[in-house]
Amino acid sequence: MAELDNALHAKRRERFMAAMAGGGALFLAAPPQVRTRDTEHRYRPDSDFYYLTGFREPAAALLLVPEHAEHRVVAFVQPKDPHMETWHGRRLGVEAAPAVLGVDAAYPIEDLEAVLPRYLSGVDRLYFQLGVWRDHDDLVVRLLPRLGSRHVLPPEAVLSPGSILHEMRLRKDPVEIDLMRRAAAVTAAGYGEALAAIRPGGWEYQVQAALEHAYRRLGGGDSAYNAIVAAGENAIILHYHENDCALRDGDLLLIDSGAEFGHYACDVSRTYPISGRFTAAQRAVYDLVLRAQEEAIARVRVGEHVKGYHEHAVRVLTAGMVELGWLHGDVDHLIETEAYKRFYMHGTGHFLGLDTHDVGRYKAGDAWRPIEPGMVFTVEPGLYVAPGASGVDPAFWGIGVRIEDDVLVGADGQPENLTAAIPKAPDAIEALLAEAFLHHS
Ligand code: GLY
Ligand code: MN
Ligand code: MN
Repeated sequence: MAELDNALHAKRRERFMAAMAGGGALFLAAPPQVRTRDTEHRYRPDSDFYYLTGFREPAAALLLVPEHAEHRVVAFVQPKDPHMETWHGRRLGVEAAPAVLGVDAAYPIEDLEAVLPRYLSGVDRLYFQLGVWRDHDDLVVRLLPRLGSRHVLPPEAVLSPGSILHEMRLRKDPVEIDLMRRAAAVTAAGYGEALAAIRPGGWEYQVQAALEHAYRRLGGGDSAYNAIVAAGENAIILHYHENDCALRDGDLLLIDSGAEFGHYACDVSRTYPISGRFTAAQRAVYDLVLRAQEEAIARVRVGEHVKGYHEHAVRVLTAGMVELGWLHGDVDHLIETEAYKRFYMHGTGHFLGLDTHDVGRYKAGDAWRPIEPGMVFTVEPGLYVAPGASGVDPAFWGIGVRIEDDVLVGADGQPENLTAAIPKAPDAIEALLAEAFLHHS
C-alpha cells in the first residue's frame, strides 16, 4: 500500500488553493456503508478526499482557507480512544495529525460544526460537493446561515470543487502513473491465474476467485469494481456480476475485472473460448473486435479528441458487421442512424484513475476536448449478439466479446498500453489455454 506522503498531498492542496482564488473549501470523508445490519463493507475513502490528504480513516474532514492568516489547511479527525480503537481499529488522533498529514491545525471531528464558522465566517464562496451524501449536504445547509452576521455576508455561492480538482485528477502525476502500472501488473497476474480456472464444467465464481485471490495476495487491494465473469449468453448483459453459472463447452467466457492498487483502478476485459479453441463464428467476431480495439488504441494520442477513438471503433465495427451479414447498407448511413447499436450499445472507453469511471470533463463547451499527456483511458469495444437475433446467422447467437485495455497518453503524446502484458491475440490465448488444460489432466 502506498505510504502517506504528506509533501505530495501538500503540493496538491497548494495547487488547488492557488486555483480557488480565495474562499473556503470543505472535503468530508465518505461515510462507512452498511452491508447487512451492523456489518459494514470494507471502508474505501472518497477519492477527492484521498487525493488531497492520503488519509484513509472515516469520520474526517479537510478544510482549506487559503487567505487565513495562520491556518490555511485544517484537518478534523477521530480523537484517540483506547476503547473504540480496541473494537474498530487504530486512529491517528488529533495530536499527531498536523505532523503526519502536514496540516496547520487539527481538531476532533466531533467539533466540526462548532469550529467551521471560526474559519469560514465572511468567505465569499464555499467549495463543497453538494448532492453526494445527504448528511453532508444537511451539515453545509445548517452551516451557511452561521457564516454571516449583521455586518458580514454569508457565502454568495456554494461551488463544486470538481471544476478545479477533477481537472487535476484527470492528468496523472508520476506517483499516480506508478500506482496505475502496479495495478496493471497485479491485474495481469490475476488474469494469468484465472486462465487456469477456465474449463468446461467449471464455474464463473471460480474464475472470479482466481482473479481476486491474486489481487489481494499481490496488491492487498479489492477489485476496483464488481468483477464480470460471464459465460455464454451472460456476456450479453453488460453489467452481469452474479457470476454463479457453469462454464459450458463451446461457449465464450467474457471477463471484465481489474485490481485496485493504492486505491488506483485497473479495468480490463478479455474473452476466452471455454473449450480452448474459438469456433469459426467466435473467431470472426473476436478478430473484428480486436482490430477495432487495436486501431482505437492507436488513436489515444495528442492531436485527437477524447471521442475520436470511439468514432473510429464504431466505423471499424460497423463495416465489419456489414461483412458478417448482420447489417445491410451504407456504413455512413448505418452509423448516422445508429443501427450498429443493436450489437454495440456502449461507448469505447472512459477516463481511469482513483475511480474506475474517473472524473474529468469530456467536453469543453459543446466540443469534445483534445487528448492531453497524462490522461488515462480505457479502450473497450465489444459486440453482443442476442440469442435469436433476427437476420443474423444462428452460429453467432449468444456471442458476446469485449476486449479492454488501459492506455496512458505519455509525455510524448503517444499511447502506452498499461495492460499490454495480458495476452489478447487469439492464437496466444488458445496456446495458453492448451497449456493450462495439460496441467488439469
Ligand atoms: N468495468 C466497467 C467498465 O468497463 O466500464
Ligand atoms: Mn471494464
Ligand atoms: Mn471500462
